[in-house]
Amino acid sequence: MRQKQDKPRLQRLVANAPVSKDTAAANSLTRVCSPRTARERTTTPRVPLYDVFGPLRIMKRGLRPPELCDTMSRVCAIFGGSRGIGHAVAQLLAQKGYCLAIIARNLDRAQTTAKNLGAGHLAFRCDVSKEEDIQNVFKEMETSLGQINYLVNAAGINRDGLLLRTKADDMLSQLQTNLLGTMLTCKAAVKGMIQQQGGAIVNVGSIVGLKGNSGQSVYSASKAGLVGFSRSLAKEIARKNIRVNMVAPGFIHTDMTTHLKEEQLKKIIPLGRFGEPQEVAKAVAFLLESPYVTGQVLVIDGGSAQ
Ligand SMILES: NC(=O)c1ccc[n+]([C@@H]2O[C@H](COP(=O)([O-])OP(=O)(O)OC[C@H]3O[C@@H](n4cnc5c(N)ncnc54)[C@H](OP(=O)(O)O)[C@@H]3O)[C@@H](O)[C@H]2O)c1
Repeated sequence: MRQKQDKPRLQRLVANAPVSKDTAAANSLTRVCSPRTARERTTTPRVPLYDVFGPLRIMKRGLRPPELCDTMSRVCAIFGGSRGIGHAVAQLLAQKGYCLAIIARNLDRAQTTAKNLGAGHLAFRCDVSKEEDIQNVFKEMETSLGQINYLVNAAGINRDGLLLRTKADDMLSQLQTNLLGTMLTCKAAVKGMIQQQGGAIVNVGSIVGLKGNSGQSVYSASKAGLVGFSRSLAKEIARKNIRVNMVAPGFIHTDMTTHLKEEQLKKIIPLGRFGEPQEVAKAVAFLLESPYVTGQVLVIDGGSAQ
């Protein structure tokens, strides 16, 4: 079934591809394609991000090739895609055939993630708290992958502590990363989405942005700000066929929660456990792919918000 669906795409790629002398074996297909240099861009066509002849040879031998990302239609930028929730979203979307840009500050980590997702996915470095970084990374992504029509904002940090002990620098870094960073990536993505007359965005908030939590006043403010931002932006660009939604996770097993006392905290969760990143990823994919849902906040917290 998969082979049938891929055939026209492979034929298209073959038609556009330069003649390759590379006889890479099946396992060498999975490689990270770093953004091409200006020289490469002028000397080779855009489309082939990997050896298109490899999959054909593998299919001829009756083996199943790695998932091929669908560069022609579904390109998704995942900020914070290298670890945790963003990583789980990347794994799920890669399985669904999206072509992904994995973006984080640590490029090595992002590259490892992109490589493990399969052929055609790319890694980029960007600090979302810096506007210049965001403008640059969108240029790089559009050059390497084409227009971005799906955006997931999962980059986030926390600096938990009582307000009286929180330094202004820590307040700023949380607001700049969690709130301003998301606003800026949305702004950059929406420009391209308007040109394409469609797109979908999912911002990752938090349950504490809805109900508050002692020791997280600044983090909560950054996430509460995202609710107003996402709902307003949804109304602003709905006519352009661009949807904006949010997920609001509770406690999820990631690097961000490793220091927490899980045994105590899970007693207040009706489902009696922390969530898994893959469980949030399912909600993100649902919102990305639900054509009549916009301006919503989907809570994924094991029932503790009630
Ligand atoms: N885990 C939870 O329980 C939970 C609950 C509610 C909401 N959330 C939210 O879910 C999102 C993901 O959290 P997580 O638990 O998956 O955290 P995580 O495991 O710490 O991953 C955070 C991701 O964001 C990236 N990142 C952080 N700061 C960045 C910056 N300035 N620029 C670009 N990328 C940056 C990290 O990569 P680099 O470090 O390489 O940049 C990493 O890929 C966050 O917005 C968080 O607030 C998490």
